[in-house]
Amino acid sequence: MKVVLLGTAAGGGVPQWNCACEVCVGVRAGRLPARTQDCLAVSGNGADWWLLNASPDIGTQLAATACLDPGPGPRDTPLRGVLLTDAELDHSLGLMTLRGAPGLRVHAPATVLHALADTRAVLDRYAEWTWRQVEPEQSVVLAGGLEVTAFPVSGKRPKYAGESPVAGHWVVAYRLFDPATGGIVLYAPCLAAWPPGFDDLVAEADVVLLDGTFYAPSEMGTATGRAGGQSAMGHLPITHTLPELRRHPRVRRVYTHLNNTNPVLDPTSAEHAKLCEAGVEVLPDGSVLEV
Ligand code: MLT
Ligand code: MN
Ligand code: ZN
Repeated sequence: MKVVLLGTAAGGGVPQWNCACEVCVGVRAGRLPARTQDCLAVSGNGADWWLLNASPDIGTQLAATACLDPGPGPRDTPLRGVLLTDAELDHSLGLMTLRGAPGLRVHAPATVLHALADTRAVLDRYAEWTWRQVEPEQSVVLAGGLEVTAFPVSGKRPKYAGESPVAGHWVVAYRLFDPATGGIVLYAPCLAAWPPGFDDLVAEADVVLLDGTFYAPSEMGTATGRAGGQSAMGHLPITHTLPELRRHPRVRRVYTHLNNTNPVLDPTSAEHAKLCEAGVEVLPDGSVLEV
């Protein structure tokens, strides 16, 4: 399978429009690379592509990715649909940009489909899409041959859905399996805790793309442009996940959904050096992985 890291930043991107932290200043000055918001494109056959999350930057991300170019007909697209890990705005606002493309399929947990009811009502006016409820631990075969399975990892709701009466899992991780190569990718950009059984999922994967929002718990209160505290909780910091990842040296381990406060964004930082020493990576937007 092919995996394109369309975006690798947490909500707001890097730089974030209202942030003057050291990293954001460094990006504006051209010292550090800019990053768009977390989103992947995956394909089993190179012809049928799926998004994992639809970031607010999706228009720019698609334009920068030749394998997702439209064609051969003037309105043809290789994009078949979207799988959502959660209903956060940085993972779902991009659906609005995709409006009008007929026949897309959107897979999401019941909680997420419910939270997006208003968005769906708008989108349904532009084109007929199929909305499919994702069931935990049930595999679905996607056009192009990939088998995808969702694993509930957290109950963290978006702020706007605090009143939702729908109970259940608000956040899932996806395992992508390519029967042609045997390759497995695990994508978990929002991890509140290290869930029971998660070690087994990591151990069997070739590549793990993991929540790297914060390096340390102390960043949670300072996340600019967001309320911090409660809203920033729900992302296990790297200080907690790196020791877990160290147990899996055979697996390619990559942090994504990186918040602008995260010092690993600076390759000269001591925190970045710690990742390197553990064999864990931070990759730039546009990176392509073959699994
Ligand atoms: C999150 O990942 O916690 C959310 O996307 C927060 C936000 O709204 O930016
Ligand atoms: Mn987010
Ligand atoms: Zn910043």
